[in-house]
Amino acid sequence: MQAMELIQEKQLAKKQHQDTAQLWNHALSFLRSMSLKCAIELGIPDFLHKRGKPITLSELATSLSIPPSKAPALGSLMRLLVHSGLFASHRDQEGEEEESYFLTPASKLLVKEEKPCLSPLALMALNWTMLGPAHLLGEWFRAGAARATPFDMAHGKGLFEEMDARADFNELFHEGMASDVQLVTEVALLRRQWEVLRGVRSVVDVGGGTGTLAKAIAKALPEVRCAVLDLPHVVATVDEEEREGVEFIGGDMFEHIPPADAVLLKWILHDWSDEDCIGILKRCKEAIPPKKDGGKVIIIDMVVGVTTDVSISVEPQLLIDIEMMILTMGKERSETEWKRLFLAAGFSDYKITSSMGLRSVIELYN
Ligand SMILES: C[S@@+](CC[C@H](N)C(=O)[O-])C[C@H]1O[C@@H](n2cnc3c(N)ncnc32)[C@H](O)[C@@H]1O
Repeated sequence: MQAMELIQEKQLAKKQHQDTAQLWNHALSFLRSMSLKCAIELGIPDFLHKRGKPITLSELATSLSIPPSKAPALGSLMRLLVHSGLFASHRDQEGEEEESYFLTPASKLLVKEEKPCLSPLALMALNWTMLGPAHLLGEWFRAGAARATPFDMAHGKGLFEEMDARADFNELFHEGMASDVQLVTEVALLRRQWEVLRGVRSVVDVGGGTGTLAKAIAKALPEVRCAVLDLPHVVATVDEEEREGVEFIGGDMFEHIPPADAVLLKWILHDWSDEDCIGILKRCKEAIPPKKDGGKVIIIDMVVGVTTDVSISVEPQLLIDIEMMILTMGKERSETEWKRLFLAAGFSDYKITSSMGLRSVIELYN
């Protein structure tokens, strides 16, 4: 074989190895998610946090009561999670056999004792009820318009109906959502960066779940009257003594939204089709006063392609878009798509502030 041909063949082989590795990575990346779930279930982030200093594999296995026969498997789990940046490791001395593990800033967000703690959100997203429908995505594309979502196909009902029917899933879902709210309140409210509520006298958090955000607003801004509107079965789970000065209203946002200076929609519109969103936004428009009197709708959602900082990958936005396709009739929207909805609902003035990483705050005015 000529030297030139040999070089070309080597380059082809090299490219094919790279392509194969890329494909394997794609096909197996669900195992990253499952390893994350396993680490949370074993309490590894909590343990590393409590320990407060790096810990070797054997100490970790003993502390977590993992049988010695499974310690090598724990080593494999930690190796993957270190490789993907969830944990970090080091060797105290050159040539030392055992590595010691410690938390990274990402895994600090999984520690139960800390706020915000995103473990409930991860466990909710990785629950059987949520994961099963993902297997049906291809079937759903072929199933014709009558099959609403892969979730519907798997469970015979929609996401919110499933929560109504199953208290355990309702609790898991709302715990997950509440943990995400901690993050938002941490970023937006507690650090006093959320100028968006300046001058507002009343807020209704539409689809506000068990009220974590409304309660945080009521605590941080006692002069603001706060209410939550959510489905009756969600509101019914909040005991009277847990309401902390927030009014809870069981109802349907498609029918009526109680009047307030500001209507909050956090992670609501991405659950719904364009047509449904226009309906919800029209109800919001009826609920608020004109801009000159301080009225606004505050949307916390993603604007695809927009992040606070160019170093933040937009990939999670694309993943959550697919998640919405599987679970709901909704989607993640670009600014052009958002604008189309706002105009169709009768709003002409809006402002997007990208201050929350992958999510933005959109203010809408009458
Ligand atoms: C994705 S969760 C978001 C919860 C909360 N805003 C958050 O970000 O943590 C959607 C919420 O909308 C509520 N919801 C669904 N349909 C509704 C309706 N027709 N009227 C009022 N709330 C509704 C659900 O019960 C759920 O609490």
